[in-house]
Amino acid sequence: MTEWFSVIPLGHSEAMHAIVIEDKKLAFREVPDPVPAEGEVVVDVTAAGVNRADVSQRQGFYPPPPGAPDYPGLECAGVISAVGPGVSGRHVGERVSALLAGGGYAQRVAVPAGQLLPVPTGLSLHEAAALPEVSCTVWSNVVDRDRLRKGETLLVHGGGSGIGTFAIQLGHALGATVVATARASKHDKLRELGADLVVDYTTDDFVAATKDFTGGRGADVVLDIVGAKYLSRNIDVLAPGGRITVIGFQGGRKAEVDLVELMAKRASLSSTSLRARPIPDKARIVAAVTRDVWPLVEAGAIKPIIHTTMPLSEAAEAHALMESSDHLGKILLLP
Ligand SMILES: NC(=O)c1ccc[n+]([C@@H]2O[C@H](COP(=O)([O-])OP(=O)(O)OC[C@H]3O[C@@H](n4cnc5c(N)ncnc54)[C@H](OP(=O)(O)O)[C@@H]3O)[C@@H](O)[C@H]2O)c1
Repeated sequence: MTEWFSVIPLGHSEAMHAIVIEDKKLAFREVPDPVPAEGEVVVDVTAAGVNRADVSQRQGFYPPPPGAPDYPGLECAGVISAVGPGVSGRHVGERVSALLAGGGYAQRVAVPAGQLLPVPTGLSLHEAAALPEVSCTVWSNVVDRDRLRKGETLLVHGGGSGIGTFAIQLGHALGATVVATARASKHDKLRELGADLVVDYTTDDFVAATKDFTGGRGADVVLDIVGAKYLSRNIDVLAPGGRITVIGFQGGRKAEVDLVELMAKRASLSSTSLRARPIPDKARIVAAVTRDVWPLVEAGAIKPIIHTTMPLSEAAEAHALMESSDHLGKILLLP
């Protein structure tokens, strides 16, 4: 197998700009260039996705896993500018997107080669930057873990989130009936993306609405970002044999579970974190997403939903927008 050693192309200085966290605030600073370790490449970032997890990291609730860059940023797209030792089949100048454990809010980022995804045919680098975190999170939970099948009902909480807009499209593309919760101002767009029923969680009860819509059966799979506040109602809305996966805790982390209700429905309840998974597990997910999801993107069945793009130096404004929840889909930063 061919191996390339680290090559930093001419014209690159040894410093770059990145967003660092200082006293729970984001600051645009000059920092050292990343150097690719064994098995890594360096990507010159064209666009980086903003995720709710970055807001939690800034607030001090979600520290990066050991070995991950300190800077926030869980996904990007760009061009490979250096190839580290032990990496084969990658070359300087290749356009890629990447799932990151951190460090995307920067001009350059080092990433394990197994976490690179191709840029789907027909997509720009900006569009490709909106996909790695949502596609890998949603696929690993809804397909890999919860085995959503054609004809089943998927309930997506936070339908207007980056995660939600992707989950609605994937569920629809897989032939599921999709129910989503969101504020009313987002409903038209979510129907366009493939939601069969949209529930305004601020005024309506999603349990009653989902049961009514499914003839009393309920949801087979629930993808939940709310956590404690929704747990008992998520069990309530579940169809026999249903699966709940909790991936966010915006509504709290501690709740009581009625195990008898779970047992009676032969239901399963799980929770996962993509960022904390070992590198080989992420590589497995990335390969499966490339194989199973990218064809749906290339066919136009799933589109990157981009709310807005902002300069990297305005990352603090991007976080303020995300915290307002006035966005629908992804916010991107451009170094
Ligand atoms: N565990 C993992 O591996 C993993 C990976 C990625 C993301 N996540 C989690 O997934 C969630 C979404 O991430 P993101 O980056 O896509 O976030 P995001 O774009 O900021 O979206 C968050 C959305 O939550 C909605 N929301 C708030 N309270 C709600 C409620 N009670 N019911 C329904 N929707 C509600 C808001 O929509 P409205 O305007 O409709 O209120 C808001 O748009 C976050 O909690 C994040 O931590 C987990």
